[in-house]
Order: sequence, then C-alpha cells, then structure tokens
Amino acid sequence: MKEPSPSLPPASGVNPMWGGHYSAGPAEALARINVCLDAERPLIAEDIEASLAHAAMLAVQGIITPEDGEALRGGLLAIRQEVRDGQFVLTPDLEDVHMNIESRLASLIGEAGGRLHTARSRNDQVATDFRLWVRRAMDRAVAGLQAFQRALVDQAERYAATVMPGFTHLQPAQPITFGHHLLAYAEMAERDISRFRDARARMNECPLGAAALAGTSFPIDRERTAKDLGFAGPSHNSLDAVSDRDFALDYLAAASIAGVHLSRLAEEVILWSTPAFGFVKLPQTFTTGSSIMPQKRNPDAAELVRATSASPIGALMQLLTVMKGQPLAYNKDLHTTKLPVFRAADDLEIMAAAMTGLVAAMEPDLKAMRAAATRGYVTATDLADWLVQTLNLPFRRAHHVTGRIVVLAETKGCRLDELPLADMQAIEPRLTADVFTVLDVERAVLRRTSFGGTAPERVRAEVARWRERFAQAEESLPPLRA
Ligand code: ARG
Repeated sequence: MKEPSPSLPPASGVNPMWGGHYSAGPAEALARINVCLDAERPLIAEDIEASLAHAAMLAVQGIITPEDGEALRGGLLAIRQEVRDGQFVLTPDLEDVHMNIESRLASLIGEAGGRLHTARSRNDQVATDFRLWVRRAMDRAVAGLQAFQRALVDQAERYAATVMPGFTHLQPAQPITFGHHLLAYAEMAERDISRFRDARARMNECPLGAAALAGTSFPIDRERTAKDLGFAGPSHNSLDAVSDRDFALDYLAAASIAGVHLSRLAEEVILWSTPAFGFVKLPQTFTTGSSIMPQKRNPDAAELVRATSASPIGALMQLLTVMKGQPLAYNKDLHTTKLPVFRAADDLEIMAAAMTGLVAAMEPDLKAMRAAATRGYVTATDLADWLVQTLNLPFRRAHHVTGRIVVLAETKGCRLDELPLADMQAIEPRLTADVFTVLDVERAVLRRTSFGGTAPERVRAEVARWRERFAQAEESLPPLRA
C-alpha cells in the first residue's frame, strides 16, 4: 500500500491537522457528535494565552529559533485581534478550537506555525485552557457574591431595628429584625466565597508540558510557563494533569451551594411579596404583569433564580457521571466536560446579579412586618424567660405555665400583652405587671443581645464588621493581570 505523501493535501473531508495517515473523513454521525465548536468558543482567549506562553518558552529554551518564536507570537497576537474584531471563523472540519487556531496560524505565518505544537498535545493544552477559564469564572463568582453581600449589608443597616416575625416550620416563632435576617444570607455568601477561594488555590497548578500523557523528551521549562500563566507551579504528574477535571467539579459544587443559598432567598422574596404576607414591595423592574389579571405583579426574577439554581446542580451531576469510571489518562469523554461548566457559570452570574438587584430594590412594608410579628404569640418564649429570670421557675415549668397563658389568650382572642394581669395571675399568682415589659415585640428583639443574636445593636455591630471586611478586601486585591 502506498503511503500518502505528507506534501499532498489530505483527501477531501480529512482533517488536515492529522491527515498524514488518514484517507477518509469521519462518518456524518461522528462529525456531528465530535464537533462542538460553539461549546468551545469561550476557550479561544485562554487557548491563545497558553500558546503565547508555550511559544515564548520554546524559544527561550532553544527548542525553536528566536525568529520562529517571534513569528508565532506575531501570528497569535494577530489571531487574538481577529477574535476581538469578530473576524475569526471557526471551521467545523478542524474539530476543535485548538486546531482552528493552529491552522489559522499556519496560513498567517507559514511553516513556523507548525512549530507551535512542539512538546505539547491538545491534551495538556485543553487541560490548561479549561483551568484558566474556570479560574476566571471563580474570580467572577467571588465578585458577584461580594456585590450581593454589599447589597445585603446596605439593607441590613437601613432595617437593623425593623421588627418582623422569625419563623421555624414557617410558623411564627419569635420576633426578629429584618436586618438580622438579611445578614444571615451575607454569612452564607461568605462561606460560598471561601469555597471558591479554596477551590482556586487547590486547582492552581499548570498542566502545560504534560503533553499527551507522559511528558516530553524536549528540554521544556514548565516552571516558566506555569508562572507566565499565573499558576503557583507546574502539576507534578503528567497523567493526572491531562485527565482530571476535579477543578471543574469543585467549581460546580461551590456554584451549586451558592445557587441553593440564592434560591432560598428567592423563595423568601416570593413569599414576602405575596399579599398574604405583604412584607415587601418589589420594584416594577424585577417583576412582570399579567396579560389577563390587571392587578398582578409577579416576582419573575426571584422565581427564575429559584429555577436557575437547578443549572449548576444539573451540571455537577452530569460532570460527576462523565468522570466516573474513566481510565487514565485522556479520553474523549473529557471533551464534553466544558459546555455544562460554561452554562452553569453564566447561570450563577445572572442569579447573583438578579438577587443583588432585588435585594437593593425591594421595599419592606414596616407596618405589615410589625403587625405580622405581633400575631402568633411570638413573645411566648420571652414570657417563659421572664418566669425563669424573675421567679426562678425551672424552664420546663415556665414553659408549661406560659402554654396555659397562651391558651387563655387564644380563647379570649387577644394578644399576650392584651391579657389582663389578673387573668395571668389566675394561672401563676406570683406574676407582676413587670411582665408586660417583655411582651411587646420591640422589647423582645432589643433584649436578644447575645453574640450572634437579633438585637438591633448586634445587627449594627455586624454591619460595621462587614464594612471593615469589605474595606480590607479592597486593600488586599491582587493587581489585575492584563
Ligand atoms: N477539544 C478536545 C477536548 O476538549 C481537545 C483534546 C483532544 N485530544 C485528543 N486526543 N483527541 O478534550
């Protein structure tokens, strides 16, 4: 059989990048399942960035001539400009972004273009590109969650002393302050941020130079490319470097948890804004009207956040399932790991932005919140505490006495603070008028000054702590990389 000559163009339909020993193009079904150029498009910038670092290293190490190094750099920068100008066209026959870029490079700078792929493989290339992309997505997630925290803290300061019912089982439990409620979400977001930061630190090793799976015989400098690309250092095992995507799983796990937190607040906003609660009024900018019911103001933004939180969770399940059971090292399965991550990242960003906007724009109805806080005997615990603190009753006994007083108030159809003292004394004769000082909801929240408690003074102290944190975070920001 005659060997196809490398100088001849490959047979029609054959990928010219590996046409040397191929004489037939892919079957239509393979072409369709293989190509997912649109899915890879987001990686173009990172692919060029990594190629620039690789080419520079090849020249410094004398693996290619300085002239070829310069030519590669010029060609890659030209392609970067074409991408920015929207002029760069991806050809499906070339399978993926890596080969599209390399092919364009060859047409721009000729022979030298073919030297870029020395001492690397698409396997370490995509592992590097994808890490660079996920690292940026982590930084964007942190920025989005920080904006969300700022909106929460601003509102918490405004409503530090606003009384609302606190719920357990969605039943009125004890009065709390709206500011305290909002700051609960700032705490969740802080842990979400720390999850992204932990994951970022863990993933920050550079796979470039692992080549196809086993490393290379060329005298490459992996420290140099790693540093150039902002990694802490090169990864230590070439097989691991090209085959794991746990950094993407870490990202999706953190995104899933952050999304779950955002969806919990979204759900609360939906409840609060329904007239049955009437706690907040949502701005027109975050709601929609109904085409038939003229009175409607639907909390679409919050509902869509609640639904969109499914996206990172779905992506996480998909990626875990794709990764499970793959033998080392690279498998084409890995080609499919990118798209779910890109989508989930877009979704997380829009969720954080929507909740930031909603929190900043919602207007609480202070009267409605307070009125709701006075229903449901929410100061019953305060009454029981008073019996312990003033009459030295064991708490269990105080709980029992209070229960009987609540039943009495229920039969009389009044609030606890409306019950005549004599009625209460019929149940516990040692009760005095002093008990009324703990039965109103404002006093009840004022008294909950324990660390982490709901008292307005605690909320204000926490707001101050958050502001200090934000200021420190701004000071310690790393310089932006170009
Ligand atoms: N586009 C491919 C991916 O994302 C690049 C690696 C292809 N490597 C290979 N041996 N076919 O996984």
